[in-house]
Amino acid sequence: MNLIVNADQNWGIGKNNELLVHIPNDMKMFRQTTIGKVVVMGRKTLESFPNGMPLPKRTNIVLTKDENYKAKEAVIVHSKEDLLEELKKYPDEDIFVIGGESIYRMMLPYCNTAHVTRTDYVYDADTYFPNLDEMEEWHITEESEEETYFDIEYRFVKYEKV
Ligand SMILES: NC(=O)c1ccc[n+]([C@@H]2O[C@H](COP(=O)([O-])OP(=O)(O)OC[C@H]3O[C@@H](n4cnc5c(N)ncnc54)[C@H](OP(=O)(O)O)[C@@H]3O)[C@@H](O)[C@H]2O)c1
Repeated sequence: MNLIVNADQNWGIGKNNELLVHIPNDMKMFRQTTIGKVVVMGRKTLESFPNGMPLPKRTNIVLTKDENYKAKEAVIVHSKEDLLEELKKYPDEDIFVIGGESIYRMMLPYCNTAHVTRTDYVYDADTYFPNLDEMEEWHITEESEEETYFDIEYRFVKYEKV
């Protein structure tokens, strides 16, 4: 199972239920990587998308404890156990955990590959990703050159669990 995240220098990922930064090339990479695949997210992340709509051309799986929650074109699950049962339907390598903080933390033990866009700046954040550099089982296996978007510097870093 994979995860995909954009994290700042302090592993900050969001503020007020929004992303910290919008980098077109990063969005493009996210789209290319997840299109046709299964994306797993928390209810708050779904609601942070334009009009609260699931991502097109992907199987969207959304976690909420609200038994009455409805979302068009998305599979709704109500617990980690329900989610793991649902995920048995799909090849493990086709599954991408896409946030937010609570879902990344819950699903990190089930993931073996992390696609991390590291933005070289400290933003004011209220949600964070666990610091993979401090976890001895996670190793950087690929890293791009530094890229820039106006004054934002970032790089694509692949971590794998060994
Ligand atoms: N930088 C990035 O790559 C990235 C990616 C995604 C999101 N984000 C950011 O992350 C922030 C949101 O993160 P978050 O942690 O606040 O919210 P979240 O993880 O997106 O959603 C949290 C919600 O998921 C549901 N949930 C969580 N665990 C569950 C469980 N075990 N069983 C059933 N439902 C469960 C609950 O919904 P109910 O309250 O409905 O029960 C909970 O309130 C936003 O700022 C967003 O922009 C950043």
